[in-house]
Amino acid sequence: MSQELINWSKKNYSGLPWRRKRSLYNTLVSEIMLQQTTVGTVINHFESFITKYPTIESLSKTSEEEICIAWKGLGYYRRARNLRKAAISIVEDFHGKIPLDFEKLKTIPGIGEYTASALLSIGANKKALAIDANLERVLSRIYRISVEKGPKLQKELKRLFEQGDLFKGRSNINWRNLNESLMDLGRVYCQANKVDCLSCPLSKSCAVIDEDPLIYPKKLNQSKKRESIDLELIRVIVKKDDLLLAYKKSEKEWLSGQKELPTFILKTNDKNLSQYPYWNEQVKLNLGSLKKFKTGITKYKITNYVLEVSEEKWKKNFSYGKRRFFFVNPDSKDENLSTSSTKALIALNN
Ligand code: ADE
Repeated sequence: MSQELINWSKKNYSGLPWRRKRSLYNTLVSEIMLQQTTVGTVINHFESFITKYPTIESLSKTSEEEICIAWKGLGYYRRARNLRKAAISIVEDFHGKIPLDFEKLKTIPGIGEYTASALLSIGANKKALAIDANLERVLSRIYRISVEKGPKLQKELKRLFEQGDLFKGRSNINWRNLNESLMDLGRVYCQANKVDCLSCPLSKSCAVIDEDPLIYPKKLNQSKKRESIDLELIRVIVKKDDLLLAYKKSEKEWLSGQKELPTFILKTNDKNLSQYPYWNEQVKLNLGSLKKFKTGITKYKITNYVLEVSEEKWKKNFSYGKRRFFFVNPDSKDENLSTSSTKALIALNN
């Protein structure tokens, strides 16, 4: 792998907040944040999170609710809850020190193969390859590997790496720089649907430079792709002065611990969906006149309709199981109102 690649990455991206001040703890936090979230979003949240939780100990002492508040804006809150569990395990089982051993790392809740490899390579500059979607794609192109993307390709890359077939002929590899520069390349010049080979620092040695790089990695068989499911929800806004009626999501629900507007399922072809009660003609709806917005969670593509009703009408016409409702201030960060609830209010006011 060329020094040019590393020079390019250092020159342009050494200022990323999690690269400026290195520690294993900072790497743990940033790597968890960067899973399923873009660099641009993480840039906006990393430092405030580290200021709030500067050490593993501080993180291990926080509550689930608190960490989810600090995680606001990053989405996929399960990661926040797992990060807290990881901190507790590191304090209790490893005297507060992140172990630098692949197998030990994997015993920590929330730390899988990817995060363990990232901690070793990016965190500790040890020999390891953190195979995320960027590395999968970039390496499949550089080495022209015709294996279907996903677990099979990851396994093949791991095998080639362990056998010494990747990065041949280079001594003194700086594993941190190598991993980070490949991630940067995947994010910037070697994207899934767009490449810029003219600008790419590796174009001279890339195995697919003379063909269409977008063919790699080999696409998953269409039938194996997870289908998306359409879902229509009614988000009910009940105002009292500037406050909104909401309830707290329970442990087993989407966005657990966050607060949400009363929400009903209007339409879905998923018969097993039990996240919300079904709409029951509580009031007459004229969908065309309602404000709406789109969101997505896991495999669901959601159209959200916003319905405003008076408190009186809410009490008279609506029932919502055993939920305890209360009024919350939508402007307060401490309330931990879900992003969809905030979006509903914005849509209503637009
Ligand atoms: N994606 C995952 N980890 C990353 C990192 N350390 N830098 C940039 N992008 C990443």
